[in-house]
Amino acid sequence: VFKVQPNQIKTEIQPTMWGVFFEDINMGADGGIYAELIKNRSFEFYKPLMGWTLEGKKVEGEMLVLNRGEANSSNPRFLRVLVNKEPKSMVNEGFRGMGIKAGLRYDFSFLYRQAKPGIKLQLELLNEKNEVIGKGEIIPTSVGDTWHKQEVSFNATATANKGKFRVTFSGEGTIDVDMISLFPSDTWKGRKGGLRADMVQLLADLKPGFVRFPGGCIVEGHDLSTRYQWKKTIGPVEGRELIVNRWNTEFAHRLTPDYYQTFGLGFYEYFQLAEDIGAQALPILNCGMACQFNTAEVVPLDQLEPYIQDALDLIEFANGDVNTAWGKVRAQMGHPKPFNLKVLGVGNENWGPQYIERLKLFTKAIKTKYPEIKLVNSGGTDPDGERFDYLNTELRKMNADIIDEHYYRKPEWFLQNAARYDNYPRNASKIFAGEYAAQTDKVVSVNNRNNLKGAISEAAFLTGLERNADVVIMASYAPLFAHIEGWQWTPDLIWVDNLQAYGTPNYFVQKLYSTNRGTHVVGLTSKNAKAAVGENGIYASTVIDKQSNELIIKVVNASDKEQKVTFDIDNAKGIQTQAKLTSLTSNSLDDVNSIDKPKQVFPKESTLAVKKKQIVHQLAPNSLSVIRVKLN
Ligand code: AHR
Repeated sequence: VFKVQPNQIKTEIQPTMWGVFFEDINMGADGGIYAELIKNRSFEFYKPLMGWTLEGKKVEGEMLVLNRGEANSSNPRFLRVLVNKEPKSMVNEGFRGMGIKAGLRYDFSFLYRQAKPGIKLQLELLNEKNEVIGKGEIIPTSVGDTWHKQEVSFNATATANKGKFRVTFSGEGTIDVDMISLFPSDTWKGRKGGLRADMVQLLADLKPGFVRFPGGCIVEGHDLSTRYQWKKTIGPVEGRELIVNRWNTEFAHRLTPDYYQTFGLGFYEYFQLAEDIGAQALPILNCGMACQFNTAEVVPLDQLEPYIQDALDLIEFANGDVNTAWGKVRAQMGHPKPFNLKVLGVGNENWGPQYIERLKLFTKAIKTKYPEIKLVNSGGTDPDGERFDYLNTELRKMNADIIDEHYYRKPEWFLQNAARYDNYPRNASKIFAGEYAAQTDKVVSVNNRNNLKGAISEAAFLTGLERNADVVIMASYAPLFAHIEGWQWTPDLIWVDNLQAYGTPNYFVQKLYSTNRGTHVVGLTSKNAKAAVGENGIYASTVIDKQSNELIIKVVNASDKEQKVTFDIDNAKGIQTQAKLTSLTSNSLDDVNSIDKPKQVFPKESTLAVKKKQIVHQLAPNSLSVIRVKLN
């Protein structure tokens, strides 16, 4: 039996409380949410023709990748095609094939230059059997030394999950081509060159408080040369210098040798995405250190200045008016209004004295120029270890605004740590639970699953984050996306193939929290004070939403028995007689969702009677229940 006191306000809950963590891992961006269908569109991958197959008779020198080098260092390569009556074809395989939808319009574009007209491009969408399921053609008309862009659109006549795209050059002459691009027209908000709408919609449905980007380890890079540099990800896409992805096979344990970051989804688009879905943007920047799991490469302190300047310039890019240098760049890209950046991260999973030394320099420079910006600092990866203790002590000595704690742990850890923040120092540094996910096999095992067991353990843990909303002001599950045929890490919140996307049980836990956030934590007690944190496998937390005047109870039964709970609502003015109940459970702890069964574990809605200011609820084994009721 619990006593709930809606009038006993414990603390405010920040609008940022439940957010999302985006990283280009598991083909999250290229081959994922970034809707470009052509792999290696600008011939810049390590093997210049990766993703492309040249068809027909090959004549030496008639299809040649040229490298301009310094003349265009951000996009040095292009393809020269010589057509001598015999047509020349090349097929692009897509990232793991291309998702093609019957009836949908596809937008083709490319850059070219030619001395004189004479060549025609025939464009064909192909299905798995190489049958043509959509076609168009384009006749390049401009001539001269400069590059021109030309576009054409055509419709698909059939659906294919693993389609391909053929370009055939016919006629006579020589043409240089680059940035061969194909997008579906059903992108998010219909933006050309935009994002996959179904994937963005799953994020929007979470109503996240923030979007953290661009990672993760890719912020750090395998080495400093492959660190994330935001300035190289803005402006015209053909000028965005791609790099090998930190999660390419070279550096990770899964087979993704074709994993690059083309940055079609760059910092401008991340800010825009956050704005679109009503979330605060939370960028994380490199702190002058490469990924410490791989190398120990750091930039010397006396050469850190450009890194710090990147941070200052980013704030100007996000918030400066159109007369500032970087505010002007933002305006030229289409967003004259500021993005209203409030929080910025410096370093991801960096630790040791090297991190603290560098962080101090960043903090001084940023706080001097932009005292209003709150900084997220890396709290490391080892919540039970010495490294973590060291960082926590040092960061608190620095009066860090927000400490980013990460935990990839077994479900049991999440259950045992639901009270983790109950005894954290109040009125000091705040906590960002920036990356967490229950690991159902071993930490970073390929056998980890997004099953009910992991999801329920996370739901229990989140009662503790919510209860401590004065200390924990942001939280996000990680990683966010994974392609079923191109992942390096599991579990992940949302899985996709080329045509579909589905939320895992963990996704629905996140959604139930974020869409039932409330505005204030309120009093919850039981006869046994510990009952709200794991006694008999029951975890609970209660909030109110002051705007809608509702009480919201979250209660988790992490045991395998049905259990009855009673909530006595101590509200002088009373309470309405019917509550809305949403519960998440399934028959087995091993149950998962999948492309074929996306709703095997899915929230169900019903009602509960409220009698004499009392709610009695029979909790299903291994379940999360969210109860909403209007207060009088
Ligand atoms: O979420 C996957 C990885 O886990 C992130 O890139 C990194 O920050 C953490 O180690």
